[in-house]
Amino acid sequence: MIKIAMIGGDGIGPEVCEQGVRCLEALAQRHGFEYKLQRLPYGGERVLKEHVVITDDEVAEIKANYDVIYLGAVGRPDVPPGVLERGLLLKLRFDLDQYINLRPVKLYPGIATPLAGRTSADIDFMVVRENTEDLYCGAGGFLRKGTPHEVATQEMIATRMGVERCLRYAFDLCRTRDREKKLTLVGKTNVLTYAHDLWMRAFEEVGGEYPDVKREYHHVDACCMYMVAKPQIYDTIVTTNMFGDIITDLGAAITGGMGIAASGNLNPTADAPGMFEPVHGSAPDIAGKDIANPIAAILSMAMLLQQTGLLKHDATIQAAGDELEAAVAKVCPKFEGKPLDRPGISTTKSRIWCWGRWDRMMRRAMLIAFPENRRQDEREVDGIAWLSAMWPCA
Ligand code: NAD
Ligand code: IPM
Ligand code: MN
Repeated sequence: MIKIAMIGGDGIGPEVCEQGVRCLEALAQRHGFEYKLQRLPYGGERVLKEHVVITDDEVAEIKANYDVIYLGAVGRPDVPPGVLERGLLLKLRFDLDQYINLRPVKLYPGIATPLAGRTSADIDFMVVRENTEDLYCGAGGFLRKGTPHEVATQEMIATRMGVERCLRYAFDLCRTRDREKKLTLVGKTNVLTYAHDLWMRAFEEVGGEYPDVKREYHHVDACCMYMVAKPQIYDTIVTTNMFGDIITDLGAAITGGMGIAASGNLNPTADAPGMFEPVHGSAPDIAGKDIANPIAAILSMAMLLQQTGLLKHDATIQAAGDELEAAVAKVCPKFEGKPLDRPGISTTKSRIWCWGRWDRMMRRAMLIAFPENRRQDEREVDGIAWLSAMWPCA
Protein backbone atom coordinates (compact mmCIF):
# COMPACT_ATOMS: atom_id res chain seq x y z
CA MET A 1 0.00 0.00 0.00
CA ILE A 2 1.32 3.39 -0.97
CA LYS A 3 -0.32 6.49 0.46
CA ILE A 4 -0.08 9.52 -1.81
CA ALA A 5 -1.01 13.11 -0.98
CA MET A 6 -1.73 14.87 -4.26
CA ILE A 7 -1.51 18.64 -4.43
CA GLY A 8 -2.54 19.59 -7.97
CA GLY A 9 -2.03 23.25 -7.13
CA ASP A 10 -2.53 25.99 -9.68
CA GLY A 11 -2.77 26.53 -13.42
CA ILE A 12 -1.85 23.44 -15.41
CA GLY A 13 -0.83 21.60 -12.20
CA PRO A 14 -4.11 19.72 -11.68
CA GLU A 15 -4.47 19.02 -15.45
CA VAL A 16 -1.12 17.31 -15.81
CA CYS A 17 -1.35 15.48 -12.46
CA GLU A 18 -4.60 13.80 -13.49
CA GLN A 19 -2.75 12.22 -16.43
CA GLY A 20 -0.16 10.88 -14.00
CA VAL A 21 -2.96 9.43 -11.87
CA ARG A 22 -4.39 7.63 -14.90
CA CYS A 23 -1.01 5.96 -15.33
CA LEU A 24 -0.89 5.09 -11.62
CA GLU A 25 -4.31 3.47 -11.85
CA ALA A 26 -3.24 1.34 -14.79
CA LEU A 27 0.01 0.35 -13.09
CA ALA A 28 -1.68 -0.64 -9.83
CA GLN A 29 -4.00 -2.98 -11.70
CA ARG A 30 -1.21 -4.45 -13.76
CA HIS A 31 1.29 -4.93 -10.96
CA GLY A 32 -1.23 -5.72 -8.25
CA PHE A 33 -0.30 -3.11 -5.70
CA GLU A 34 -2.66 -0.93 -3.70
CA TYR A 35 -2.58 2.79 -3.33
CA LYS A 36 -4.58 5.47 -1.61
CA LEU A 37 -4.52 8.89 -3.23
CA GLN A 38 -5.98 11.94 -1.57
CA ARG A 39 -6.38 15.19 -3.51
CA LEU A 40 -5.53 18.06 -1.15
CA PRO A 41 -6.89 21.54 -1.92
CA TYR A 42 -3.78 23.64 -1.26
CA GLY A 43 -2.94 26.37 -3.73
CA GLY A 44 -3.98 29.77 -5.01
CA GLU A 45 -7.76 29.24 -4.74
CA ARG A 46 -7.48 28.63 -1.04
CA VAL A 47 -5.20 31.62 -0.54
CA LEU A 48 -7.69 33.89 -2.27
CA LYS A 49 -10.67 32.51 -0.32
CA GLU A 50 -9.20 31.85 3.12
CA HIS A 51 -5.93 33.85 3.17
CA VAL A 52 -4.10 30.71 4.28
CA VAL A 53 -1.47 28.81 2.30
CA ILE A 54 -0.75 25.70 4.40
CA THR A 55 -0.45 25.50 8.19
CA ASP A 56 2.14 23.72 10.31
CA ASP A 57 -0.56 21.30 11.45
CA GLU A 58 -1.48 20.47 7.87
CA VAL A 59 2.16 19.75 7.03
CA ALA A 60 2.38 17.57 10.15
CA GLU A 61 -0.76 15.77 9.00
CA ILE A 62 0.83 15.02 5.63
CA LYS A 63 4.00 13.85 7.33
CA ALA A 64 2.09 11.51 9.64
CA ASN A 65 -0.37 10.04 7.14
CA TYR A 66 1.30 9.80 3.74
CA ASP A 67 4.31 8.10 2.18
CA VAL A 68 4.78 10.62 -0.56
CA ILE A 69 3.48 13.82 -2.17
CA TYR A 70 2.60 14.23 -5.85
CA LEU A 71 2.56 17.90 -6.76
CA GLY A 72 1.52 19.75 -9.93
CA ALA A 73 2.67 23.34 -9.64
CA VAL A 74 1.90 26.45 -7.66
CA GLY A 75 1.81 30.16 -8.43
CA ARG A 76 -0.76 32.37 -10.09
CA PRO A 77 -0.72 35.94 -11.37
CA ASP A 78 -3.36 37.23 -8.92
CA VAL A 79 -1.37 36.09 -5.86
CA PRO A 80 1.82 38.09 -5.11
CA PRO A 81 5.06 36.31 -6.11
CA GLY A 82 6.50 34.17 -3.37
CA VAL A 83 3.30 33.68 -1.35
CA LEU A 84 2.61 30.25 -2.83
CA GLU A 85 6.13 29.44 -3.95
CA ARG A 86 7.65 30.07 -0.52
CA GLY A 87 4.52 29.37 1.53
CA LEU A 88 3.67 26.01 0.01
CA LEU A 89 6.40 24.54 -2.17
CA LEU A 90 9.47 25.66 -0.25
CA LYS A 91 7.72 25.14 3.08
CA LEU A 92 7.14 21.49 2.20
CA ARG A 93 10.71 21.05 0.90
CA PHE A 94 12.16 22.60 4.07
CA ASP A 95 9.76 21.28 6.73
CA LEU A 96 10.01 17.74 5.39
CA ASP A 97 13.79 18.12 5.05
CA GLN A 98 13.74 17.06 1.41
CA TYR A 99 17.39 17.91 1.04
CA ILE A 100 17.90 16.42 -2.40
CA ASN A 101 16.22 17.65 -5.55
CA LEU A 102 16.86 15.03 -8.20
CA ARG A 103 16.44 16.24 -11.76
CA PRO A 104 17.23 13.95 -14.69
CA VAL A 105 18.31 15.66 -17.90
CA LYS A 106 17.58 12.94 -20.40
CA LEU A 107 16.74 13.18 -24.07
CA TYR A 108 14.25 10.43 -24.87
CA PRO A 109 14.54 8.93 -28.34
CA GLY A 110 12.26 10.72 -30.78
CA ILE A 111 11.97 13.93 -28.79
CA ALA A 112 13.38 16.86 -30.76
CA THR A 113 16.23 18.77 -29.12
CA PRO A 114 17.19 22.28 -30.27
CA LEU A 115 20.85 21.15 -30.18
CA ALA A 116 21.74 20.33 -33.78
CA GLY A 117 22.97 16.81 -34.40
CA ARG A 118 22.52 15.59 -30.83
CA THR A 119 20.83 12.30 -30.06
CA SER A 120 19.68 10.62 -26.85
CA ALA A 121 23.15 9.05 -26.54
CA ASP A 122 24.60 12.54 -25.97
CA ILE A 123 22.20 13.88 -23.35
CA ASP A 124 21.69 11.71 -20.29
CA PHE A 125 22.81 13.17 -17.01
CA MET A 126 21.47 13.62 -13.53
CA VAL A 127 21.45 16.89 -11.62
CA VAL A 128 21.58 16.58 -7.83
CA ARG A 129 20.41 19.95 -6.56
CA GLU A 130 20.89 20.77 -2.88
CA ASN A 131 17.38 21.64 -1.74
CA THR A 132 17.35 23.15 1.77
CA GLU A 133 20.03 25.86 1.89
CA ASP A 134 21.65 28.60 -0.20
CA LEU A 135 19.67 31.67 -1.24
CA TYR A 136 16.47 29.72 -0.62
CA CYS A 137 16.67 29.91 3.18
CA GLY A 138 14.80 33.19 3.24
CA ALA A 139 17.45 34.88 5.38
CA GLY A 140 17.69 38.60 4.81
CA GLY A 141 15.55 41.65 5.08
CA PHE A 142 14.96 45.31 4.38
CA LEU A 143 16.30 48.42 5.97
CA ARG A 144 14.63 51.78 5.30
CA LYS A 145 12.20 50.01 2.96
CA GLY A 146 10.56 52.22 0.37
CA THR A 147 13.00 55.12 0.86
CA PRO A 148 15.78 56.23 -1.49
CA HIS A 149 18.23 54.76 1.03
CA GLU A 150 16.64 51.35 1.07
CA VAL A 151 18.83 48.31 1.72
CA ALA A 152 17.75 44.77 0.82
CA THR A 153 19.80 41.70 1.68
CA GLN A 154 19.31 38.05 0.75
CA GLU A 155 21.82 35.70 2.29
CA MET A 156 23.45 32.65 0.76
CA ILE A 157 23.83 29.94 3.38
CA ALA A 158 26.02 26.86 3.15
CA THR A 159 26.42 24.58 6.16
CA ARG A 160 29.04 21.87 6.29
CA MET A 161 26.36 19.33 7.29
CA GLY A 162 23.97 20.37 4.51
CA VAL A 163 26.66 20.39 1.85
CA GLU A 164 28.20 17.14 2.96
CA ARG A 165 24.97 15.13 3.02
CA CYS A 166 24.15 16.37 -0.46
CA LEU A 167 27.62 15.50 -1.76
CA ARG A 168 27.45 12.01 -0.25
CA TYR A 169 24.10 11.41 -1.91
CA ALA A 170 25.55 12.56 -5.25
CA PHE A 171 28.67 10.39 -4.98
CA ASP A 172 26.54 7.36 -4.04
CA LEU A 173 24.17 7.99 -6.93
CA CYS A 174 26.97 8.53 -9.43
CA ARG A 175 28.44 5.18 -8.42
CA THR A 176 25.21 3.37 -9.29
CA ARG A 177 24.72 5.02 -12.67
CA ASP A 178 25.69 3.14 -15.75
CA ARG A 179 27.77 5.98 -17.17
CA GLU A 180 31.31 7.28 -16.73
CA LYS A 181 31.25 7.45 -12.91
CA LYS A 182 32.11 11.13 -13.04
CA LEU A 183 30.69 13.69 -10.63
CA THR A 184 30.91 17.35 -11.61
CA LEU A 185 30.55 20.00 -8.94
CA VAL A 186 28.98 23.14 -10.42
CA GLY A 187 29.58 26.34 -8.49
CA LYS A 188 31.16 29.77 -8.68
CA THR A 189 34.26 29.50 -6.52
CA ASN A 190 35.87 32.45 -8.28
CA VAL A 191 33.30 34.86 -6.84
CA LEU A 192 31.54 33.13 -3.95
CA THR A 193 34.77 32.73 -2.05
CA TYR A 194 33.15 31.72 1.24
CA ALA A 195 30.13 29.54 0.52
CA HIS A 196 31.62 27.83 -2.50
CA ASP A 197 35.00 27.46 -0.87
CA LEU A 198 33.21 25.33 1.70
CA TRP A 199 31.58 23.34 -1.12
CA MET A 200 34.93 22.81 -2.84
CA ARG A 201 36.73 21.65 0.30
CA ALA A 202 33.90 19.29 1.22
CA PHE A 203 33.84 17.97 -2.36
CA GLU A 204 37.53 17.10 -2.23
CA GLU A 205 37.35 15.60 1.25
CA VAL A 206 34.20 13.51 0.74
CA GLY A 207 35.43 12.60 -2.74
CA GLY A 208 38.49 10.99 -1.15
CA GLU A 209 36.11 8.31 0.16
CA TYR A 210 34.97 7.54 -3.39
CA PRO A 211 38.17 6.71 -5.30
CA ASP A 212 36.09 5.01 -8.04
CA VAL A 213 34.25 8.27 -8.87
CA LYS A 214 36.09 10.84 -10.99
CA ARG A 215 35.77 14.41 -9.74
CA GLU A 216 35.47 17.49 -11.91
CA TYR A 217 34.61 21.10 -11.16
CA HIS A 218 32.89 23.60 -13.49
CA HIS A 219 31.92 27.20 -12.87
CA VAL A 220 28.20 27.58 -13.46
CA ASP A 221 28.59 29.97 -16.38
CA ALA A 222 30.84 27.51 -18.19
CA CYS A 223 28.44 24.70 -17.29
CA CYS A 224 25.61 26.49 -19.14
CA MET A 225 27.84 26.77 -22.19
CA TYR A 226 28.90 23.09 -22.02
CA MET A 227 25.31 21.92 -21.55
CA VAL A 228 24.63 23.40 -24.98
CA ALA A 229 28.00 22.85 -26.70
CA LYS A 230 28.93 19.38 -25.41
CA PRO A 231 26.26 17.93 -23.11
CA GLN A 232 27.77 14.46 -23.44
CA ILE A 233 30.51 15.38 -20.96
CA TYR A 234 28.09 15.19 -18.04
CA ASP A 235 27.25 12.06 -16.06
CA THR A 236 26.16 13.41 -12.65
CA ILE A 237 26.18 17.07 -11.59
CA VAL A 238 25.96 18.20 -7.99
CA THR A 239 25.18 21.83 -7.34
CA THR A 240 23.68 24.45 -5.07
CA ASN A 241 19.99 25.22 -4.75
CA MET A 242 19.84 28.35 -6.92
CA PHE A 243 22.23 27.16 -9.61
CA GLY A 244 20.41 23.83 -9.69
CA ASP A 245 17.13 25.63 -10.28
CA ILE A 246 18.53 27.60 -13.19
CA ILE A 247 20.52 24.93 -14.99
CA THR A 248 17.63 22.46 -14.88
CA ASP A 249 15.38 24.78 -16.88
CA LEU A 250 18.21 24.81 -19.42
CA GLY A 251 18.31 21.02 -19.03
CA ALA A 252 14.59 20.90 -19.82
CA ALA A 253 15.09 23.08 -22.90
CA ILE A 254 17.77 20.79 -24.39
CA THR A 255 15.67 17.67 -23.81
CA GLY A 256 12.47 18.85 -25.45
CA GLY A 257 11.05 21.59 -23.26
CA MET A 258 9.35 22.27 -19.96
CA GLY A 259 6.69 19.67 -20.69
CA ILE A 260 9.24 16.85 -20.40
CA ALA A 261 11.36 17.50 -17.31
CA ALA A 262 10.56 15.63 -14.08
CA SER A 263 11.89 15.99 -10.57
CA GLY A 264 11.91 14.46 -7.11
CA ASN A 265 12.42 16.20 -3.78
CA LEU A 266 13.85 13.46 -1.61
CA ASN A 267 14.38 12.93 2.06
CA PRO A 268 16.78 9.98 1.69
CA THR A 269 16.55 9.17 5.40
CA ALA A 270 12.85 8.32 4.86
CA ASP A 271 11.98 10.26 8.02
CA ALA A 272 9.48 12.31 6.04
CA PRO A 273 7.70 11.97 2.69
CA GLY A 274 9.39 12.95 -0.55
CA MET A 275 7.63 15.09 -3.15
CA PHE A 276 7.55 14.53 -6.89
CA GLU A 277 6.69 17.26 -9.37
CA PRO A 278 7.39 18.48 -12.87
CA VAL A 279 10.22 21.03 -13.16
CA HIS A 280 7.81 23.40 -14.89
CA GLY A 281 5.53 25.86 -13.15
CA SER A 282 1.81 26.55 -13.34
CA ALA A 283 2.09 27.99 -16.87
CA PRO A 284 -0.79 30.46 -16.52
CA ASP A 285 -0.46 31.29 -20.23
CA ILE A 286 -1.77 27.86 -21.23
CA ALA A 287 -3.79 26.84 -18.16
CA GLY A 288 -7.33 25.58 -18.63
CA LYS A 289 -6.89 24.99 -22.36
CA ASP A 290 -6.07 21.32 -22.05
CA ILE A 291 -2.95 21.75 -24.12
CA ALA A 292 -0.22 21.30 -21.51
CA ASN A 293 2.13 18.42 -22.14
CA PRO A 294 1.71 15.89 -19.32
CA ILE A 295 4.95 13.92 -19.89
CA ALA A 296 6.79 15.81 -17.13
CA ALA A 297 4.05 14.92 -14.65
CA ILE A 298 3.89 11.33 -15.92
CA LEU A 299 7.66 10.94 -15.59
CA SER A 300 7.42 12.49 -12.11
CA MET A 301 4.91 9.76 -11.24
CA ALA A 302 7.42 7.21 -12.57
CA MET A 303 10.11 8.71 -10.31
CA LEU A 304 7.67 8.73 -7.39
CA LEU A 305 7.13 4.99 -7.77
CA GLN A 306 10.81 4.20 -8.38
CA GLN A 307 12.04 6.18 -5.39
CA THR A 308 9.24 5.15 -3.03
CA GLY A 309 9.82 1.51 -4.00
CA LEU A 310 13.52 1.95 -3.29
CA LEU A 311 12.97 3.55 0.12
CA LYS A 312 10.26 1.10 1.18
CA HIS A 313 12.19 -1.88 -0.22
CA ASP A 314 9.17 -2.68 -2.35
CA ALA A 315 10.32 -4.21 -5.64
CA THR A 316 6.78 -4.25 -7.09
CA ILE A 317 6.33 -0.50 -6.78
CA GLN A 318 9.82 0.13 -8.10
CA ALA A 319 9.16 -2.12 -11.10
CA ALA A 320 5.92 -0.24 -11.79
CA GLY A 321 7.89 3.03 -11.89
CA ASP A 322 10.49 1.51 -14.20
CA GLU A 323 7.76 0.28 -16.48
CA LEU A 324 6.11 3.68 -16.67
CA GLU A 325 9.40 5.32 -17.60
CA ALA A 326 10.03 2.61 -20.17
CA ALA A 327 6.53 3.16 -21.55
CA VAL A 328 7.23 6.85 -22.12
CA ALA A 329 10.63 6.06 -23.65
CA LYS A 330 9.09 3.44 -25.87
CA VAL A 331 6.39 5.63 -27.30
CA CYS A 332 8.57 8.70 -27.93
CA PRO A 333 10.29 7.40 -31.11
CA LYS A 334 6.87 7.28 -32.79
CA PHE A 335 7.16 11.02 -32.99
CA GLU A 336 10.63 11.28 -34.48
CA GLY A 337 11.19 14.72 -35.91
CA LYS A 338 7.98 16.22 -34.50
CA PRO A 339 8.25 19.14 -32.09
CA LEU A 340 6.36 17.37 -29.32
CA ASP A 341 6.83 20.04 -26.79
CA ARG A 342 7.80 23.66 -26.93
CA PRO A 343 7.14 26.54 -24.60
CA GLY A 344 4.53 28.75 -26.25
CA ILE A 345 2.58 25.66 -27.13
CA SER A 346 -0.60 27.75 -27.28
CA THR A 347 0.21 29.12 -30.74
CA THR A 348 -2.05 27.69 -33.42
CA LYS A 349 0.80 25.83 -35.05
CA SER A 350 2.07 24.11 -31.93
CA ARG A 351 -1.46 23.39 -30.70
CA ILE A 352 -1.29 20.49 -33.12
CA TRP A 353 0.92 18.79 -30.56
CA CYS A 354 -1.30 19.52 -27.60
CA TRP A 355 -2.14 16.77 -25.14
CA GLY A 356 -5.57 15.85 -26.53
CA ARG A 357 -4.17 15.50 -30.00
CA TRP A 358 -0.99 13.90 -28.71
CA ASP A 359 -3.04 11.33 -26.84
CA ARG A 360 -4.97 10.40 -29.97
CA MET A 361 -1.79 10.31 -32.07
CA MET A 362 -0.08 8.11 -29.54
CA ARG A 363 -2.98 5.67 -29.45
CA ARG A 364 -3.05 5.52 -33.23
CA ALA A 365 0.68 4.82 -33.30
CA MET A 366 0.18 2.09 -30.72
CA LEU A 367 -2.51 0.51 -32.83
CA ILE A 368 -0.16 0.27 -35.76
CA ALA A 369 2.48 -1.28 -33.50
CA PHE A 370 0.06 -3.59 -31.67
CA PRO A 371 -2.97 -4.30 -33.93
CA GLU A 372 -4.21 -6.94 -31.47
CA ASN A 373 -5.29 -4.10 -29.21
CA ARG A 374 -7.51 -2.53 -31.83
CA ARG A 375 -10.84 -3.57 -30.35
CA GLN A 376 -9.94 -2.57 -26.85
CA ASP A 377 -8.71 0.78 -28.09
CA GLU A 378 -11.85 1.47 -30.07
CA ARG A 379 -13.95 0.87 -26.99
CA GLU A 380 -11.85 3.07 -24.82
CA VAL A 381 -12.05 6.35 -26.64
CA ASP A 382 -10.61 8.61 -23.98
CA GLY A 383 -9.09 5.94 -21.81
CA ILE A 384 -5.65 4.75 -20.98
CA ALA A 385 -5.51 2.53 -24.04
CA TRP A 386 -2.33 4.13 -25.28
CA LEU A 387 -0.58 3.16 -22.13
CA SER A 388 -1.94 -0.34 -21.71
CA ALA A 389 -1.48 -1.02 -25.41
CA MET A 390 2.25 -0.65 -25.16
CA TRP A 391 2.69 -3.18 -22.35
CA PRO A 392 4.58 -5.32 -21.74
CA CYS A 393 7.46 -3.01 -22.44
CA ALA A 394 10.86 -4.27 -23.40
P1 NAD B 1 6.46 27.91 -16.26
O1 NAD B 1 7.31 26.69 -16.20
O2 NAD B 1 5.13 27.81 -15.62
O3 NAD B 1 6.27 28.32 -17.80
C1 NAD B 1 7.35 28.66 -18.66
C2 NAD B 1 6.94 28.39 -20.12
O4 NAD B 1 6.89 26.97 -20.37
C3 NAD B 1 5.56 28.93 -20.47
O5 NAD B 1 5.58 29.41 -21.80
C4 NAD B 1 4.67 27.71 -20.39
O6 NAD B 1 3.52 27.78 -21.22
C5 NAD B 1 5.60 26.59 -20.82
N1 NAD B 1 5.25 25.32 -20.19
C6 NAD B 1 5.40 25.00 -18.88
N2 NAD B 1 4.94 23.77 -18.65
C7 NAD B 1 4.49 23.29 -19.83
C8 NAD B 1 3.87 22.06 -20.23
N3 NAD B 1 3.64 21.06 -19.36
N4 NAD B 1 3.55 21.90 -21.52
C9 NAD B 1 3.78 22.88 -22.39
N5 NAD B 1 4.35 24.06 -22.10
C10 NAD B 1 4.68 24.27 -20.82
O7 NAD B 1 7.31 29.09 -15.62
P2 NAD B 1 6.94 30.63 -15.32
O8 NAD B 1 6.06 31.15 -16.41
O9 NAD B 1 8.22 31.27 -15.05
O10 NAD B 1 6.11 30.58 -13.96
C11 NAD B 1 4.70 30.55 -13.87
C12 NAD B 1 4.28 30.39 -12.40
O11 NAD B 1 4.68 29.10 -11.91
C13 NAD B 1 4.95 31.40 -11.46
O12 NAD B 1 4.00 31.73 -10.48
C14 NAD B 1 6.11 30.63 -10.83
O13 NAD B 1 6.50 31.10 -9.58
C15 NAD B 1 5.49 29.26 -10.74
N6 NAD B 1 6.44 28.14 -10.72
C16 NAD B 1 6.10 27.08 -9.93
C17 NAD B 1 6.88 25.94 -9.93
C18 NAD B 1 6.47 24.80 -9.08
O14 NAD B 1 5.40 24.81 -8.48
N7 NAD B 1 7.25 23.75 -8.98
C19 NAD B 1 7.99 25.87 -10.77
C20 NAD B 1 8.31 26.97 -11.58
C21 NAD B 1 7.50 28.09 -11.56
C1 IPM C 1 11.38 24.90 -9.27
C2 IPM C 1 10.74 26.25 -9.07
C3 IPM C 1 10.83 26.66 -7.63
C4 IPM C 1 12.31 26.78 -7.26
C5 IPM C 1 10.09 27.95 -7.27
C6 IPM C 1 8.67 27.94 -7.76
C7 IPM C 1 10.13 28.22 -5.80
O1 IPM C 1 11.31 27.19 -9.92
O2 IPM C 1 10.96 23.93 -8.61
O3 IPM C 1 12.27 24.77 -10.12
O4 IPM C 1 12.92 27.84 -7.48
O5 IPM C 1 12.84 25.81 -6.73
MN1 MN D 1 12.68 26.34 -11.39
